[in-house]
Amino acid sequence: MENMYQNIFDTHAHYDDEAFMEDQDTVLSGLKDKGVTGVVTCGVDLLSSANVLKLTKKYDILYGALGYHPEKADEERKGDLELIGELLESEEKAVAVGEIGLDYYYEDGAPKETQIDLFQRQIALGNDLDIPVIVHDREAHEDTMKILKDMKPKGVVHCFSGSYEMAKEIIKLGMYIGVGGVVTFKNARKTVEVVEQMPLEFLVLETDAPYLAPTPFRGKRNDSSYIAYVAERIAEIRGMDPQEILNITAENAKRLYNL
Ligand code: NI
Repeated sequence: MENMYQNIFDTHAHYDDEAFMEDQDTVLSGLKDKGVTGVVTCGVDLLSSANVLKLTKKYDILYGALGYHPEKADEERKGDLELIGELLESEEKAVAVGEIGLDYYYEDGAPKETQIDLFQRQIALGNDLDIPVIVHDREAHEDTMKILKDMKPKGVVHCFSGSYEMAKEIIKLGMYIGVGGVVTFKNARKTVEVVEQMPLEFLVLETDAPYLAPTPFRGKRNDSSYIAYVAERIAEIRGMDPQEILNITAENAKRLYNL
């Protein structure tokens, strides 16, 4: 089915993840034939950000986001963010600070204060460089919104899991809403509501590959071509043509990442 569509832009993936280690080249070199025209692959720490950069040099459709994920907040070493800042400034295909944010889901995760401090310093980096940030918010809506309203970065809230009310506040800040496989799940009532009502010019599509594969591949390894299924579901919700959804969201993605 994937071959039916073109202009697929995946605004959030993790192609340096070990889930792709065995066949990374096969997957990445095959994406173009499946209609994928752009992918932003995100780092989760310094090493991963360096690996992301290597991938962007090898595959023309790949762009990179460099940053520290909240799950890795405890592992940040002195000087890491300075180095990430230098790479963001000097590397042409490094287009955003990400993946950054807050994750209060894990009881044994980094302390909230550590996560908040790292999140704020990375937003400041994006603001300094005048580039977007890619925000992860898991069970941390209140603190995330407070920080975004306070620091006003450009960027996207990825794998958006909030209410339509929260989506409106994010859009008011000029930020984009990232939607992926979750919208195809049976229990996706809240995400469906957001997608149904939000202005389409602030919607971008994503995989979070290797995670969150859409139905009918739920639980399997995700890749950017499966965004076709996300577009089909959104088209169904909005009463539009899937290709039209892909075209609009690809344009939004390019605007978001200044491409
Ligand atoms: Ni991610």
